[in-house]
Amino acid sequence: MSADMIHPGHLNIIHEAVKLGSVTVGVLTDAAIASYKRLPYLTYEQRAEIVSNIKGVDRVVPQTTLDYVPNLRELKPDYVVHGDDWKEGVQQKTRQRIIEAMAEWGGQVIDIPYTQGISSTAMNQRLKEIGTTPEIRMKRLRRLIGAKKIVRILESHSGLTGLIIENTSVEVNGTKQEFDGMWASSLTDSTSKGKPDIEAVDITTRLHDLNDALEVTTKPVIFDGDTGGKVEHFVFTVRTLERLGISAVIIEDKVGLKQNSLFGTDAVQTQDTIEGFCAKIKAGKNAQITEDFMVIARIESLIAGKPVEDALERAYAYVAAGADGIMIHSKNKDGQDIKEFCLRFREKDVETPIVAVPTTYNQFTEDELASWGINVVIYANHMLRSAYPAMVNCAKSILQHQRSLEASNDYCMPIKEILTLIPGTKQ
Ligand code: SPV
Ligand code: MG
Repeated sequence: MSADMIHPGHLNIIHEAVKLGSVTVGVLTDAAIASYKRLPYLTYEQRAEIVSNIKGVDRVVPQTTLDYVPNLRELKPDYVVHGDDWKEGVQQKTRQRIIEAMAEWGGQVIDIPYTQGISSTAMNQRLKEIGTTPEIRMKRLRRLIGAKKIVRILESHSGLTGLIIENTSVEVNGTKQEFDGMWASSLTDSTSKGKPDIEAVDITTRLHDLNDALEVTTKPVIFDGDTGGKVEHFVFTVRTLERLGISAVIIEDKVGLKQNSLFGTDAVQTQDTIEGFCAKIKAGKNAQITEDFMVIARIESLIAGKPVEDALERAYAYVAAGADGIMIHSKNKDGQDIKEFCLRFREKDVETPIVAVPTTYNQFTEDELASWGINVVIYANHMLRSAYPAMVNCAKSILQHQRSLEASNDYCMPIKEILTLIPGTKQ
C-alpha cells in the first residue's frame, strides 16, 4: 500500500490478512509511487511508521518498485492479500504476474472485496482545498528530485497560471502525467508587466505577485533570482524566499546589467569571476535557516560562447562552494553542448542535481534529457508565450469585424466556463 491516507479500506484488508497469519505490509517508497502518480503527502518514513503501528501489522518492508515480484520472491509469503479493485484496470497485469510468481512456492493470492464509499480521489481533492504550509511546500522539491527520474516544472506568472500547473493532468499509457512545480521566470514576470527582462522589476514586486500563485496552489516553486544582485542584498532575498516556502532560487553567474540569456552573444553580458560567484553562493547558503532551501548555480558560459570546459570548471567550483544544484543553459538548437556538459559533469559528480531549460533544444523528450543525467526540466516561458498570440488574435478579430461575435466564437471560452473556472466560485 501507499498508505498516504489511511482509511477503513486499508484496515479491512489488514484485518482479513490477520486471520491468515503474521502480516507483513509492503509500503511503496516515494520513488515507486512517483513512477505512476503524484508524490504522496507524507514521506516514506512517516507512512511506514503509521502502518507499522496499525494493530495486526507485524512488519513493514519498503516496496521500491511497482513490480512486487522481487520482494515476494525474497519473502516467499503463503498469501498475498490485496483489495479486489486490482482485478480491473492497469493493475490487472501486476495481479497476474503475482499469481504466477506465488505458484513457484505454492503461495496464494487473496482478493478482499473493495470497501465501498471511500474515494481517494475525493480525499485528495479535500486535501488540496485544505492547502499547504510554506514548510511542506519547500521540502517538496528535494523529495521530488529524490523520487523522480526527472522533475517537470512549468513557468507561472500569475495566480491563474499557477492554477493551470496545479490542476492540469493527462493520462498517458495508464499513468497520470502532471507538472511537479512552478518556475517564477524573470522573463515572463517582466514581460507580463510590459517591461524588459533586465532586473527592472524589483524582487519585492515579483514576490508580491508570486503570492497570488502561492495562495491557490500547493506545488513547489523555483524562483528565478537573475544575478542575485549584490551579495549584501542576496542574503535578504534568500531569507525572504525561504520564509515564503519557495524551494529553490537559481542565480546566474553574470554581473552588470543583465540581459535575457536567449540573446546569447548578441547582447553585451559579462560573466562573474569564479571567486566572485562562489562568494555569492556561500553567502546565500549561510543566510538560509532550514536544511531544505536550495541555492542553484546557473552557468552562463555556453550562452557567452565559451567552451564546455569553462562551464565544467565553474560547475565543480560552484558545487564546492555549496551550490545545491547546477543549471546549465544554452541557446544552441542542437542541444549537443548541453548533452556533452551533462555527460562529462556526471563522470565526476553523480549526486548534484542538474537543471536544464530546453527552450531552444526542445526536440528532446524528458526521457532523453534524463538519460543525459538531467534531474529537473524547466519549461521556462510557455504559459506566457501561448497566451500572448491568442490575445492578439482576439483583439484583431474585434477590430476586423467591429463586433465581438467572431472573436467569442473563435478565440474565447464560454462565459459560463469563465464564471466557474476558479475554485470557490459560487455555482
Ligand atoms: C527566464 O525564464 O527568465 C530564464 C530562462 O531565466 S531564459 O529566459 O532562457 O534565460
Ligand atoms: Mg530569467
